[in-house]
Amino acid sequence: MKIKGKVAIVTGASSGIGMACAKLLSHHGAKVALVARSKNILDNLYQELADSYTVATDIRKENQIKEMVKKVYNKFGRIDILVNNAGRGYDAMVEKIDIGMLRELIDLNFIGPLITMQEVIPIMRNQRGGTIINISSGTSLMSIPNIAAYSSLKKALNGLSLTAREELAKDKISVSVVYPYITATNFGKNIMGGVRKWQPQDEDPDLPPVDPPEIVAEKILEVIKTGKPQIYAHDWMGKMR
Ligand SMILES: NC(=O)c1ccc[n+]([C@@H]2O[C@H](COP(=O)([O-])OP(=O)(O)OC[C@H]3O[C@@H](n4cnc5c(N)ncnc54)[C@H](OP(=O)(O)O)[C@@H]3O)[C@@H](O)[C@H]2O)c1
Repeated sequence: MKIKGKVAIVTGASSGIGMACAKLLSHHGAKVALVARSKNILDNLYQELADSYTVATDIRKENQIKEMVKKVYNKFGRIDILVNNAGRGYDAMVEKIDIGMLRELIDLNFIGPLITMQEVIPIMRNQRGGTIINISSGTSLMSIPNIAAYSSLKKALNGLSLTAREELAKDKISVSVVYPYITATNFGKNIMGGVRKWQPQDEDPDLPPVDPPEIVAEKILEVIKTGKPQIYAHDWMGKMR
């Protein structure tokens, strides 16, 4: 899909990967709806990005998601691209996963993206096409201690996305998964639970260096343009399956 003139919703646009993606899409001529809870940050970004629009939304709330999609559609008259990016980590051993926190995480990292897809799919079908990008994680390809809740939900998101891709091909709606590697954002600071706040520099020094969020944004752009089913921040990640 060409980007210029297209209408895109980017969730989690107030920080990290989502903000980098919103900027890149806007610089390529898209009209970007900026979605997250931090209204002040979104309003500042709105000043910076031509033809953008802000809708403060809590992606854990079904009614807020539905309202957000309606507002974007009423504003621009179409929705071509959805980047389901908002998300948080959760640091806890399986034995210690707090069920209340897990339910919150499910709402944010799985049910929220699903509802957002369900809201845009009929619009995209009526337009005879669209692109949905779901942001997963390299951790969904591995079994790393302490992040089972997070990585399991990203695995579920992968399955949901690739099944939706099959179901929606006849409607010319492309659904793809992007797998970031460790990326220098506020993700570590925002991790739920956890006795430790994870920082990219805490990682094993033998691992490749962390990525800036702009690398993931470029991958998102590539997948929108090509319609590839899956794309990894680095090709070697695809061999971890
Ligand atoms: N950074 C990494 O190493 C890494 C690696 C693999 C995958 N990822 C994935 O990349 C995505 C983006 O994360 P990031 O690294 O850019 O982290 P980040 O800097 O913490 O950004 C997270 C974004 O999600 C939004 N968000 C959080 N809770 C929300 C809620 N209830 N409703 C609406 N928006 C909410 C935040 O906005 P507000 O707080 O303003 O609502 C923020 O814009 C996530 O899905 C994450 O799982 C990250």
